[in-house]
Amino acid sequence: MKSIASAPGKVILFGEHFVVHGTKAILCAIDKRVTVYAKTIPDKIVIKSDIGDITCDLDVKLTEINSPLKPLLYLAKRLSKKYDYNFGMSIMVKSEIPSGMGLGSSSACCVAGAAAIYTLFDKPDKEEILKLAIDAEKTIYSDSSGADCTVSIHGGIMIYHNGKFVKIRDVPNFNIIISNSNIVHSTKNMVSKVKEFKEKNSKEFSKMCDIENKLVDNATSLIKKNDLKQLGRCMTQNQDLLKNIGISNDKLNKMIKIANQVTYGSKITGAGGGGCIISLSDNIQDVINYLKENKIECLSAKIDFKGFLTD
Ligand code: PMV
Repeated sequence: MKSIASAPGKVILFGEHFVVHGTKAILCAIDKRVTVYAKTIPDKIVIKSDIGDITCDLDVKLTEINSPLKPLLYLAKRLSKKYDYNFGMSIMVKSEIPSGMGLGSSSACCVAGAAAIYTLFDKPDKEEILKLAIDAEKTIYSDSSGADCTVSIHGGIMIYHNGKFVKIRDVPNFNIIISNSNIVHSTKNMVSKVKEFKEKNSKEFSKMCDIENKLVDNATSLIKKNDLKQLGRCMTQNQDLLKNIGISNDKLNKMIKIANQVTYGSKITGAGGGGCIISLSDNIQDVINYLKENKIECLSAKIDFKGFLTD
């Protein structure tokens, strides 16, 4: 038996970090995907990807595995048990999304992996696959809110607030320019840093949360109107907040300054400390050329409206 599934990565358009402390955030699926090929084989679990390989027996203990591919092994073991399957499995991962850069590569891998392995045994069930993907992601990042997997499953743009998701309907498909700092970040460390900031500056932080919520509301109506100019301004305001809570750095600030010379506005996307920035413009090719002239690695992405796909 064979199956193939794919799922999109994401950017956070607004609200990272503040969302951990109860504000709203806007997440957007992007047209860069992870594809997982699954196949039943006589023995062993064999997982292959650009970031490493695992070969082991089906009864291996997960605690013995220290690999970014652990979520896929978890899924292979859990679904084999559920469907009383006692043989091997070959899982191959192909990704268009750079890893460790806040573009949701690991959640897209969990969603595509859950969908591919699930459909080896059964018809795809969106809600089941989402639950499996979130559990798989938690084998690596136990505090995961599940937001990345949710946007990857459904596609489109979503507002996330206190564990609930609302999809923004009738979204026009605009381009997002993503520039990579090539500094791998740790979400966990950056979240702790913000917690410290909040403890030392509680009043200031609470004001910032109010501003963030207003920015998200404003951005939601600008997205619907396709007003990239104003949306870019909101991004720059959001970036000021992110800078104030200490998650930017010299490299990211420099990239944002350069990008802002030719775009409507830019901000960090995701945990910061490294990873990527996003910018908005109507002149994509000119912006890409300018960023490349300034030695900034960048790509342009569109919104993915498909979410996860199975063959
Ligand atoms: O860089 P990422 O994709 O890991 O994004 C982290 C977003 C945070 O708001 C910083 C943390 C979270 O769990 O929401």
